[in-house]
Amino acid sequence: MNVLGIETSCDETSAAVVRLGRTVLSNVVASQIEQHRPYGGVVPEIASRSHVRVLPGVIAEAIARANTTWAQIDAIAVTYGPGLASSLLVGLSMAKGLALAVRKPLCAVNHLQAHVYSPFLTPGTPSIEEVCPCIALVVSGGHTCLLRVESPDRACLLGQTIDDAAGEAFDKGASLLNLGYPGGPAMDRLGKIGDPASVAFPRARAPRAGSRMEGLAADLCFSFSGLKTALLYHLKAHPIPDGDAARLADVVASYQEAIVDVLLDRTEKAMTGHHTLLVGGGVSLNSRLRARLQAYAASAGIRLLLAEARFCGDNAAMIAGLAGNGQGLWGADALRVDAEPNLPVAPVGGR
Ligand code: KG4
Ligand code: ZN
Repeated sequence: MNVLGIETSCDETSAAVVRLGRTVLSNVVASQIEQHRPYGGVVPEIASRSHVRVLPGVIAEAIARANTTWAQIDAIAVTYGPGLASSLLVGLSMAKGLALAVRKPLCAVNHLQAHVYSPFLTPGTPSIEEVCPCIALVVSGGHTCLLRVESPDRACLLGQTIDDAAGEAFDKGASLLNLGYPGGPAMDRLGKIGDPASVAFPRARAPRAGSRMEGLAADLCFSFSGLKTALLYHLKAHPIPDGDAARLADVVASYQEAIVDVLLDRTEKAMTGHHTLLVGGGVSLNSRLRARLQAYAASAGIRLLLAEARFCGDNAAMIAGLAGNGQGLWGADALRVDAEPNLPVAPVGGR
């Protein structure tokens, strides 16, 4: 079964063809970073207009690169949330229209559940059925959450950020350091050469109760907004002299380490009693996070399934993969569904 996936939840326009939920035949990603860079963040109006402009060509290219024809496409899968309303609508309307026009079944997919599925797109990885129950960490620009994946069809939310996402912490920190947008990749590069112990940035303790924590264990939730403030005050007290690249790298490495420490701490707690950890989302590209996760997995005897670099950021292969594995909303349910900007990843569940 070949599924055509379509992803337009934020600022990447992507289409992919995936066979049987596992074999990626094509994965075309058109990035809009250059269009948003002058504004230091994603501008929703620019994002949706750009999706409208490039999506038809991206879909045609995904089908061509997969060496398939429309006749060989068995279903169309699309992200319906969470994300930017106007961006989601472009992909969803296109997918609904295509499904009706070419008479293929439609599947509507939760973007965050697709990030959870992304490690299974790598050849040789066991199937999701084989590793459940397991824990998943999703770290992206908009979300940071820990899930218990009971079965391919059932997951529950164990913890999430109560303020900024890990990617936002990277991007806002980078902006304070004038490293440009998006900040994650620049922080990663500089962090490699700095000393992570040079500045003692705070590691947020278990946050106080708040509406985003309802039903969740405090020690599995994240808070990153205080870290960004700590960086602001640090820079006021100790400005980095112009051209002092070594000092800049030290501050970046220390700031990055504070984010990675907190991600590791919560993940290790969530892993109690579990043997497999899935990790996906744009921030899982971070080399320090990947190295720390690998070291933890090796020392704790845990099977770590990290999404491959090309499947970490937003991409349609993970959407087509999840649908091809039988998940998502199908048929009339999918045709009826609306864009859901605040779609939760999964119901809240206890440990
Ligand atoms: O998953 P993603 O592509 O989009 C969302 O769904 O949000 O994640 C984008 C986020 C941005 O905040 C970006 O700065 C961050 O991932 N990111 C990184 C790295 N590459 C991208 N953060 C840290 N280190 C990286 N190498
Ligand atoms: Zn994402």
